[in-house]
Amino acid sequence: AWAKVPAGPPDPILGVTEKFKADKSPKKINLGVGAYRDGNGKPYVLPTVLKAEEIVFNAKLDKEYLPITGLASFTKLAAELAYGKDSKPLVEDRLAITQSISGTGALRIGTAFLARFYPGAKAIYLPAPTWGNHIPIAKDSGLEVKQYKYFNKETVGLDFEGMKADIKAAPEGSIIMLHACAHNPTGIDPTEAQWKELSEIVKEKKHFPFFDMAYQGFASGDILKDAFAVRYFVEQGHQLLLSQSFAKNMGLYGERVGAVSFVCADKEEKARVDSQLKIIVRPLYSNPPVHGARLVSTILSSPELYDEWLVEVKGMADRIIAMRSKLYDTLVRLDTPGEWGHIKSQIGMFSYTGLKPEQVDALAEKAHVYLTRDGRISMAGLNDSNVEYFAESVSKAVKG
Ligand code: LMR
Repeated sequence: AWAKVPAGPPDPILGVTEKFKADKSPKKINLGVGAYRDGNGKPYVLPTVLKAEEIVFNAKLDKEYLPITGLASFTKLAAELAYGKDSKPLVEDRLAITQSISGTGALRIGTAFLARFYPGAKAIYLPAPTWGNHIPIAKDSGLEVKQYKYFNKETVGLDFEGMKADIKAAPEGSIIMLHACAHNPTGIDPTEAQWKELSEIVKEKKHFPFFDMAYQGFASGDILKDAFAVRYFVEQGHQLLLSQSFAKNMGLYGERVGAVSFVCADKEEKARVDSQLKIIVRPLYSNPPVHGARLVSTILSSPELYDEWLVEVKGMADRIIAMRSKLYDTLVRLDTPGEWGHIKSQIGMFSYTGLKPEQVDALAEKAHVYLTRDGRISMAGLNDSNVEYFAESVSKAVKG
């Protein structure tokens, strides 16, 4: 039956993990997928998550189906975390929200809703570059994918002028996807002043903003700072769409906990959007898994666990920031050709190194170091024991 099925390419990000696993060298390092590792290179289960596991276990809860839109205590707390308790759409009960299969699921539901109901053109503008999965998610949902300028190769910084020009040039009422913080893959974010300008442009052009927030707290170590763009846009009256993930900031990767929310005009509109979210979710996966949502809800609802969690998120962010300095210092000490300042200035899980695809291939073959071919490295994969080796390997690859 499948004689004509062509073999597809491996996933650009998760395929790197497959190659890494097949490598038997003790020196190997995986800087591909964005998954946090502790100072010993091991996956990290947050202590608050372990405590929440115990609380949930002791409660001896049943395993009944959740409602289609998920655990209500979870979605309420997730919305408060992103928008703030006093946010108008929450106070005025005009936020439609559903639990999702992490960030990817949130994006999938959001784009499916747009494809079905957005009154304007069905094109979504993504930054160039963007997270690799954004493109197939939008396409599979039936949206046309376009891109706006984001990265300036010369300055290894934000091409703010290009970004503004492209967003202005998009037909009125276009859907504009924005990374709320810790842009993936570049680690370069607009400043607060730049976000304000972007809000004006989006408003003038009557565009529809869709924020992807996969790293709240993880970018700067500060939940509020990382939510700045989303909260500012909401204050400015944008009726945005927001996808959230708890994979990174609570280390709940495999639990697949996320949410997607729609700021609506009023309560009545919210009820209609909500009814359609159910109609989208039900044939996809019926209703979401319960365990991860219980963990998040346990942490966010307990003032003590919440405070402990803030310290843990900051700890993860700070360890990454420390590795940025160490990597930078070592590359400079080794007289590595090129300018490496961006390693320290970039934000969040990733650094966009500027390494070329051939250099990436050489790193895998010669040094057992794995990263995506766009030169992105997951900073979280570096630690005191491997950062020197990594810097030496990069230095050799660059010197050729
Ligand atoms: C990444 O970009 O590495 C992460 O968001 C994980 C993924 O699913 O790609």
